[in-house]
Amino acid sequence: RLKLGVMASGSGSNFEAIAQSIQDGHLNADIQVVIYNNPDAKVAERANRFSVSSVLLNHREFDSREDLDQAIVNTLKDHQVEWVIMAGWMRIVTPVLINAFPNRILNIHPSLLPSFKGNRAVHQALEAEVKITGCTVHLVVPEVDSGKIIIQAAVPVLEDDTVEALQARIHAQEHQIYPAAIAIAAIQASH
Ligand code: GAR
Repeated sequence: RLKLGVMASGSGSNFEAIAQSIQDGHLNADIQVVIYNNPDAKVAERANRFSVSSVLLNHREFDSREDLDQAIVNTLKDHQVEWVIMAGWMRIVTPVLINAFPNRILNIHPSLLPSFKGNRAVHQALEAEVKITGCTVHLVVPEVDSGKIIIQAAVPVLEDDTVEALQARIHAQEHQIYPAAIAIAAIQASH
């Protein structure tokens, strides 16, 4: 079974999709710990519901990104994590984290990368007036929103779409692909 550590900053709907997929027997894994950085992040309640331990590491209490990442690494190692799953983690990560889990960190991004990198991907897609956007699961490398792509799903942009409506449509696809991406990345890593 894959030993996962999830990193999340907010709602945690992707955490829940992964936890549900495990519970349903579709993904052979365990979530060892959820790390979150915002005290009021809803992901903590979701973790409780799935009886997964959660640890708050508030970035405001660290002097640098590297210090935060070192605390994250320590927490992940304490929980025997082998695969790190960034699920709505809204902080830039440094080589302190990346080098501690080489080729074992996944991120989900709400666009078809390499289009619309950064934290306004859904807004950017609407502003660009594209007809198709989507979501991407990729391996994490030091350059933001880059790294080998594991899976993508396409999502149509509709006439008069709003950020909220488009985001909801993207979320539905994210919940489908993330559990599958974890299994695929693990198989690819074993070859
Ligand atoms: C997801 O849509 C994810 O793609 C996005 O944050 C959302 C988190 O939702 N991530 C980024 O924008 C990363 N830059 P969730 O908390 O409900 O899983």
